[in-house]
Amino acid sequence: MTAKKLSRGVALVGAGMSQFGAFPGLTTRSLFVQAFKEMRDSVDKGLDPKDIEALYLGNYSSTLFEGQGFTAPFMASAVGITPVPATRVESACASSGAALREGIIAVASGIADVVLVGGIEKETDLPTERVTDTLATASDTLYENPAGFTFPGLYAALATAYMDRYGATPESFMKVGIKNHDNGALNPMAQFGKTIAGFMADKIARAEKKGQPVPEWADEMAFLHDQRANPVIAWPMRLFDCSPVSDGAAALLVVAEEIAGNYTDKPLHIIGYGQASGMATHDREDLTTVDAAKLAGQRAYEPAGVTPDDIDVVEVHDCFTIAEVLASEDLGFFKPGHGYKAAEEGATARDGSRPINTSGGLKSKGHPVGATGAGQVLEIWKQLRGVAGDRQLSGDLRLGMTHNLGGSGQACVVHIFERRQ
Ligand code: COA
Repeated sequence: MTAKKLSRGVALVGAGMSQFGAFPGLTTRSLFVQAFKEMRDSVDKGLDPKDIEALYLGNYSSTLFEGQGFTAPFMASAVGITPVPATRVESACASSGAALREGIIAVASGIADVVLVGGIEKETDLPTERVTDTLATASDTLYENPAGFTFPGLYAALATAYMDRYGATPESFMKVGIKNHDNGALNPMAQFGKTIAGFMADKIARAEKKGQPVPEWADEMAFLHDQRANPVIAWPMRLFDCSPVSDGAAALLVVAEEIAGNYTDKPLHIIGYGQASGMATHDREDLTTVDAAKLAGQRAYEPAGVTPDDIDVVEVHDCFTIAEVLASEDLGFFKPGHGYKAAEEGATARDGSRPINTSGGLKSKGHPVGATGAGQVLEIWKQLRGVAGDRQLSGDLRLGMTHNLGGSGQACVVHIFERRQ
């Protein structure tokens, strides 16, 4: 199946997110209102909410997380845009990537000129065991679940297959975590705004304060090898290989290209839009690559007329550190089996040749699953417009990409954004 060109150009003219983190006292609605306000503030020439003609809202499972099964109209109401159509889009962790695609389709079709795309998830009101069970409903309950897999386990299986084929080690994945925590420490909206060295210092300070034996680590790798500090969750994935349990919301304003100038002189044109589905892990011939991601990437590059080398900044779905390595290969940035070497050598760091996850990624920024895809777009918005603060990449950035994965790779949505002014 080849990618088709949009019949009408589509642009991003605003983006915002709530803080990602654990917010026991806050409602999902208030998080979405925060994201909406941030988005509205980002629209250079202002937004009258009456302009919005539809809401596409990514949400994985408010039903199980919150006992609230019908979210989109309530979110529309919370931001004052009823009676516009409000539709929930579910594609596991790729829910708001898929919602963005629905928003693009609505604008490209001409059914709407101005669309709000959102994402929400509130996970931390449940204990981790129940969060794990809820997330596991996104795996195959006929085959993967009965075999005992949870999400850390599924990605651990991908990691061991990758290690076996290419010679990567658990240390390769640790390097990804260190890099993403370095980036997240520069992101004020991140759940863990801390480097690994920051975690070490906090643990030492806490032990000193409590009069307990003070831990000593030679460096970050020693900390990550310490089973008490960084326990194995599902080998080889340890705590600092996993994205956290998170609450959060994000909001994007998507409009027809011809009216983008009403909102900003610096829109981001959405020139690549790929989505694909794939098989569950038990049916895959090869666990060292995610076919849906490769296909979604190809389908995004094709209409955009660009290649991996042209992309200046990319946010990939690092729900686990192995997922970032796989994404870096599936999207064509590195050859199969070379992604882990690139991570080890620092190529994916902010000052590397192929920066990945400048926001801190899911690992450090957090992973409120239904909000993650829209949250990734915010980082691209900031980087391409030169407003990413201390983590801003240097140079004339023109093209950005997001890669949003669902399940253990059964869904992937990839978008490419271009700044022309
Ligand atoms: N990375 C680093 N530190 C983490 C962390 C993570 N992912 N998750 C929790 N922590 C820290 C907490 O801040 C806390 O630190 P403190 O003791 O200094 O205060 C400590 O670990 C314990 O936190 P807690 O919430 O009790 O952790 P937990 O053991 O209940 O949960 C995981 C840890 C890894 C099991 C949980 O984060 C998880 O399930 N992550 C994966 C989520 C997932 O599968 N998402 C979908 C992906 S497709």
